[in-house]
Amino acid sequence: MTSPSTGPRSGEADGAPRGERFYQGLLDEETRPVPASLRATSAAPPHDAAIPPARYFDPETHRLEVERVWSRVWQMACREEQIPEVGDSVVYDIADTSLIVVRTAPGEIRAFHNSCLHRGTQLRNRSGHVTRLRCPYHGFTWNLDGSLREIPCAWDFPQIDPATFRLPEARVGAWGGFVFVNTDPQAGPLEEYLENMPSHFAQWPLEDRYLTGHVVREMPCNWKVALEAFIEAYHTMTVHPQLLRTAADTLTEYDVYGAHVSRMITAVGISSEHLDRELDDVEIVKAMLGSPEADITLEPGSTARQVLADRVRASLHRRTGRDYSHITDAEALDGIEYFLFPNFMPWGGYLTAFAYRFRPNGNDPDSCVIDIMVLEPVPESGPRPPAAKTRYIGPDESWTDAPELGVFGRVFNQDGARFERVQRGLRASVRTSGTLARYQESRIRHFHATLETYLAQTD
Ligand code: FES
Ligand SMILES: [Fe+2]
Repeated sequence: MTSPSTGPRSGEADGAPRGERFYQGLLDEETRPVPASLRATSAAPPHDAAIPPARYFDPETHRLEVERVWSRVWQMACREEQIPEVGDSVVYDIADTSLIVVRTAPGEIRAFHNSCLHRGTQLRNRSGHVTRLRCPYHGFTWNLDGSLREIPCAWDFPQIDPATFRLPEARVGAWGGFVFVNTDPQAGPLEEYLENMPSHFAQWPLEDRYLTGHVVREMPCNWKVALEAFIEAYHTMTVHPQLLRTAADTLTEYDVYGAHVSRMITAVGISSEHLDRELDDVEIVKAMLGSPEADITLEPGSTARQVLADRVRASLHRRTGRDYSHITDAEALDGIEYFLFPNFMPWGGYLTAFAYRFRPNGNDPDSCVIDIMVLEPVPESGPRPPAAKTRYIGPDESWTDAPELGVFGRVFNQDGARFERVQRGLRASVRTSGTLARYQESRIRHFHATLETYLAQTD
């Protein structure tokens, strides 16, 4: 009998973890050149560190996260195409910080602290087009570039120097069509912060995509509880059983890089090892297409992955006019999900074209806000399509009320149905730490190691 910690089912039987061995073996079967990034394996060293439950509900932890994480990190504020015209703005809130992210010139975006310099009133309480920033209380007004435009009864404010009475700004950076902000004037540049993300995404340029969906919802759990459900595939067999026919869940590859970036890749078009029996290729194709009754035959020698990847290439070409004949089956099909500390997850590849963001909801450690963005490649010719409007889903609604999420609405409902129970269970815990799988939850451990580094920084 094989012991649980050794042998072929162990994570470390011959050096590389089994998910990595499996996935890299799958890449060996590709008939097209495999991008170097897919070969850039970087398994975390085996470790047993676990997370104290209090980290998910303790108000002091939240306070420290605000002071030492949210006030120092680069964070994704919006897509560039959400503010295409000069004067278009998005309000980005994180805990008590609120920023008005505005396009101030065709090639310039600024982020102003959303607080009037008179008596503090919030200048904007929603996204939208502005020609100036006018406070709704006494009418102090600033130009789009942050310079002062008008003070009613200026004679009564002789102490104000109009030349320096500008709206304070946060730093702004851009990558992949996303706008990033950082409220720390001492922070290093975004380019450094992104570590290897730009080079890994070179073959999946996210700046050549546009927002076809943006769905926002509050959920009754700490932001880290929600986030962690999206950086492991271990829960698939329990939470998303319908995916087992078409996804190699527990054979996922997990990689951790630097301090800020990690990745997982789940092969699609392959059935899970947790099904009662292995599916044949025709059954996998039918399951993937959602048509069990369809009359499908495969060419001799072709696999479900090849057939499905060809369909994705053809569909992408139809939708965009671009040529996708060079992309590997892996890029066409697989779930290639990256994580950028502390809360941003863009997907590489083409079938799962999402980007996620997880934030605390104000200062409530038991509540968070999830953003799900859907990113479609921009057509090769013609004008750049406009960004989809943001859809807010209420507490009594369902992710499936957002048709732009397609079949994933059900998947998000399945995840979300657990969140409140996780949060309550963490509060009910009598232990000082949880337990983490060594490999499949290595990204969670990596995330917390970086979080701990930030929380420990006092200067
Ligand atoms: S608080 Fe803004 S003008 Fe008075
Ligand atoms: Fe999930």
